[in-house]
Amino acid sequence: MSSSTTPVLPFAQTLATISRLPRIGIVCGSGLSTLVSSLKNVVQLPYSQLQGFGESTVVGQKSMLAFGLMGKDNVPVVAMLGRFHPYEGHKPIVVTYGIRIMKRLGVKDVIITNAAGSLTPDIPVGTIVVIRDHLALPNLTGMNPSFGPLMSQEYARFIPLGDAYSPRLRRLAFLASHYLKFDSSALAEGTYAWVAGPAYETPAEGRFLRDAGAHVVGMSTIPEVVAAREEKLEVMVLSLVTNTVVIPDTYRSIKAEVEAELAGQHVELPSMETASHEEVLETGRQKAEVMRSLVERIVELVPAN
Ligand code: HPA
Repeated sequence: MSSSTTPVLPFAQTLATISRLPRIGIVCGSGLSTLVSSLKNVVQLPYSQLQGFGESTVVGQKSMLAFGLMGKDNVPVVAMLGRFHPYEGHKPIVVTYGIRIMKRLGVKDVIITNAAGSLTPDIPVGTIVVIRDHLALPNLTGMNPSFGPLMSQEYARFIPLGDAYSPRLRRLAFLASHYLKFDSSALAEGTYAWVAGPAYETPAEGRFLRDAGAHVVGMSTIPEVVAAREEKLEVMVLSLVTNTVVIPDTYRSIKAEVEAELAGQHVELPSMETASHEEVLETGRQKAEVMRSLVERIVELVPAN
């Protein structure tokens, strides 16, 4: 929650400092906060000064809310530079707070970005995946952010998610990519598997998620998607593939190798690859400009409604 040493600004005071209320909300994942450089008339507010916000503890994430105008038509947007994850120890109310605030500021559409690991060789590192569905094991086992008493009688008790990923917004992502003259391989479509983290997947877990139908895996976003749908916002999720999840289809048998070694053969132990946060941040840095220009172009294409 907010630090006790910094003054806490009530939202009314915050709002007095921005010129236009935002129409589009953006959540920036690991390494993607450079998006703020696209904003004109920017007002940045540290989460520590905003009532109800937590403090993001993840390296590579800022802890700021940024208001500003984006694109040639100066679309008013609000961007979360850094987000909150359950694995940091944040409660669902904190993890989804930014989305709930966006709704109350008048936002209609949210663009949520994240870094993710690829579960298939068809989607290499550097690809941006436009998410069309999700597989959220934590949601199915009691970690749904809306588990528990209703926050308001206005919310639906049962949140439909069959239509969570707006076809209208997803279409704009592919149009934007075309207008930016990106290669057609720059963007893919797929299903996001949400895992609670913070450990990266074992090979068996990666294979399990792949075989269950997911294309990418990450530790964020889905609580925000659920809250956004509960708030009746339209949602688009863009996952930047920062690493591949190692999924060997066959394992070398150490038992057989030791037997070969004992029979006099030279054997080398297999080198084991694994994901790391440094790799995730490095790909994020390399692709931040691509993601920034894509989001900016999408924002220009979203019609005011
Ligand atoms: N697994 C889970 N979360 C991630 C990964 C991954 O490989 N890469 C970035 N976020």
